[in-house]
Amino acid sequence: MNVPTTHVSTSADTHADTQIIPLDLGEHSYNITVSYDLKESLADVLAPWNKGQQWVVLTQQAIFDLYAPVIEKLQVSGYRIHPIIVPGDESAKNIAHAEKVWTQMVELGCDRSSIVLAMGGGVVGDLGGFVASTYMRGIPVIQLPTTLLAMVDSAIGGKTAVNLPAGKNLVGAIYQPKAVLVDPSFLKTLPRRNVISSLAEAVKYGFIRDTVIYDLFINEFDKLASLEDKALLAEIIARSCNIKAQIVSNDQFEGGERKLLNFGHTIGHAFETIHEYGGLYHGEAVLYGMKCASYISHKKGLLDDESYATAMSVLNQFPLPPLGDVSADRVLDIVSHDKKNINGTLSFILVDGIGNGVISTDVTSSDIVESLSVVK
Ligand code: GLY
Repeated sequence: MNVPTTHVSTSADTHADTQIIPLDLGEHSYNITVSYDLKESLADVLAPWNKGQQWVVLTQQAIFDLYAPVIEKLQVSGYRIHPIIVPGDESAKNIAHAEKVWTQMVELGCDRSSIVLAMGGGVVGDLGGFVASTYMRGIPVIQLPTTLLAMVDSAIGGKTAVNLPAGKNLVGAIYQPKAVLVDPSFLKTLPRRNVISSLAEAVKYGFIRDTVIYDLFINEFDKLASLEDKALLAEIIARSCNIKAQIVSNDQFEGGERKLLNFGHTIGHAFETIHEYGGLYHGEAVLYGMKCASYISHKKGLLDDESYATAMSVLNQFPLPPLGDVSADRVLDIVSHDKKNINGTLSFILVDGIGNGVISTDVTSSDIVESLSVVK
């Protein structure tokens, strides 16, 4: 279990405004609310969904220990709250844990009106969404992400999943939450490496869609990486949520545009697998993967020399652990088994100019092998 150790200091009194970002999906529309210290007024924030029914707060022990007063406050305000604790690491994301949660919910008397509040990072969010999507054929879920990765990516867009021994996220559903509540003040109890590496997903939005985010990473990286400028952090988070919301609104089921979110993830996933999801954080693997994808974009004439040089210097600002010896054959093997390949065709995300992600089906094995030269 990841027990937070290093505390990130944040300046105490600069509170960014609340930002409400709509995710437009017809009857499944919802808002992403970004607001510092939102957790302090959670009873009010959740009030529109509280009809006196049972609430399951799905979380992990370290978060429960740190934020028990937040949960207690809900109880005191009259919410019928039942915390359910699951492991904080990837081991929670399997069908056995889902079954344990379903069973506890039955024992607690949860019915079709009950709500799941998934309070945690990607593991809790994916498991919570999956459990909610299937319990009594589907009950509402609200995402309360506590990691930066979850705030800017995994809590948004309705991807829910558990893993199989054969691979990650092989069983799940697209099941939209009723709301995503983003309180960046959760980040202050996370290890710095966890937060900084997760900025990878934000810079990804810069590469594929938003040159304002990209420019912030060029001009303000040190301030961002210090995690001390609350307004800047909130701006990056809200802009990232906005891009994700736009993309998911256009393509909920990943028929096309949503694939752009995989920029850096195809080769990054191979690096993550080689390190067995241990030595390298997801964001770090994606940073390495974005270097390779930028290399291929340049090789194919989609990024000019200057843009490529800038892209690499943006990515090189991030501290990264050494990648070690990655065998090209192993990378190709993992890429060829990626579940995102359809009928054997690899959809590889490149950038045709910064801010313009494109789906390419003509990235070859030799392009991938060649690109590894920039990360060795
Ligand atoms: N994390 C990528 C997606 O939600 O599509």
